[in-house]
Amino acid sequence: MSEHRFTVNGREVRVETDGSNPLLSVLRDELALRGTRFGCGTEQCGSCMVLIDGEPAYSCSREVATVAGKSVTTVEGLSNNGALHPLQQAFLDEQAGQCGYCLSGILISAAALLKRNPKPSRDEIMQALDPHLCRCGMHNRVIRAVQRAAGAGP
Ligand code: FES
Ligand code: FES
Repeated sequence: MSEHRFTVNGREVRVETDGSNPLLSVLRDELALRGTRFGCGTEQCGSCMVLIDGEPAYSCSREVATVAGKSVTTVEGLSNNGALHPLQQAFLDEQAGQCGYCLSGILISAAALLKRNPKPSRDEIMQALDPHLCRCGMHNRVIRAVQRAAGAGP
């Protein structure tokens, strides 16, 4: 056990845990941020995606010791003082979800995409979301929602 310091959603945290623990477990079990989901544990589904220093990363396979001093953003950190992120509103407007299990990871990758490319093409959206599985088959609605958030409309 050792202490690990990093920033989560703009707040500095200190966690006493084994450095080899997955970041996902620390977020969910130590910091009570349960929006980030466990799916496969093997970088195959994308449900655990978070931003680390602004880049999408699988939190299921990322040892917490490796995020020391870095900035982590989870789906809870996308909203701003209670105001939904434009992507969150667009997903609601498009009803882009069924069970919702995949959505926190998808929102994270979509947010990173729109930050680096505010007007992505359909192909660029599909490429950015390629790491994500949605077993409910909501892909078309998800793409429409990202287009809507980008101001492109369906
Ligand atoms: S839980 Fe991390 S990729 Fe599936
Ligand atoms: S909405 Fe159910 S897995 Fe995507």
